[in-house]
Amino acid sequence: MDAVTLTNVRFQYPNTDRLILDDVSLGFPQGEWTTIIGHNGSGKSTLARLIDGLLIPQQGQITVGDLPVTEKNMTRVHQQVGIVFQNPDNQFVGATVADDVAFGLENRQVPRDEMQTRIQQSLAAVDMAQLADAEPAMLSGGQKQRVAIAGILALEPKIIILDEATSMLDPAGRQLVLNLLKQLRTQQKYTIISITHDPAEMAIADRVVVLDQGKIIRQGPVAKVLQDVELLRQIGVGIPAGQALRQALADRGVAVPARYFTEQEMVEWLCQKL
Ligand SMILES: Nc1ncnc2c1ncn2[C@@H]1O[C@H](COP(=O)(O)OP(=O)(O)OP(=O)(O)O)[C@@H](O)[C@H]1O
Ligand SMILES: [Mg+2]
Repeated sequence: MDAVTLTNVRFQYPNTDRLILDDVSLGFPQGEWTTIIGHNGSGKSTLARLIDGLLIPQQGQITVGDLPVTEKNMTRVHQQVGIVFQNPDNQFVGATVADDVAFGLENRQVPRDEMQTRIQQSLAAVDMAQLADAEPAMLSGGQKQRVAIAGILALEPKIIILDEATSMLDPAGRQLVLNLLKQLRTQQKYTIISITHDPAEMAIADRVVVLDQGKIIRQGPVAKVLQDVELLRQIGVGIPAGQALRQALADRGVAVPARYFTEQEMVEWLCQKL
């Protein structure tokens, strides 16, 4: 079953004449992690905002579970979808880590006792419980993004969207967030949609969707889509490490396996060769 479905979605911003999403039909499988890649301006963030109901399409339907994303259903849609944006500083609203997570719960009038439990549990889930009383100035970018994710987990959503949420982080911060996402995926409780230019992030997802000028030009399992190095070059995203190495060896005439290899698989293959 798909957690999110788009059917023939067309969208353009008011007072513009360009279609940003052009007849997009797409499903996001329940419990899986899908990354969306594509050139700058291809419509990725617009797609995320449509799923969350922040924008409404001129044509077509979007459903979250079996709930149509419409003005009327907005409160219920927001209960099910959480978005993490690019800039960790713009998202921090509380005076402390715990306050920040509390903010969304207060908005939803969650009772005090339950609120405390949910704050503790969600901070523990992102490994930030020990910093519950810390102020934002004390945190790294990666820690702030994990608090942003905790704020979303506390609201018990079904779908988590990350719009380039790791792009402003240093390598260590990025790794922390990616590890957290990997862990969340194993619970199969959440459907994860991440928009990224980061090869490492796309390589560890389950599925990849490629957007180009408002159309889906490719989609499928990671191993299949990322095999197409030429496509990745065309859309200007990085090539995952395992794939780049495989390609470099092939270019030098080494007989490499035809299928996509993760970095780890590539290392194992090389070790066997040596
Ligand atoms: N509020 C707006 N009003 C008018 N046009 C907009 C608005 N927001 C975005 N656009 C345009 O819509 C197109 C798609 O934008 P969008 O932000 O969805 O792209 P994107 O794929 O997320 O790009 P990036 O990789 O740079 O984040 C762009 O050409 C952009 O200029
Ligand atoms: Mg964007």
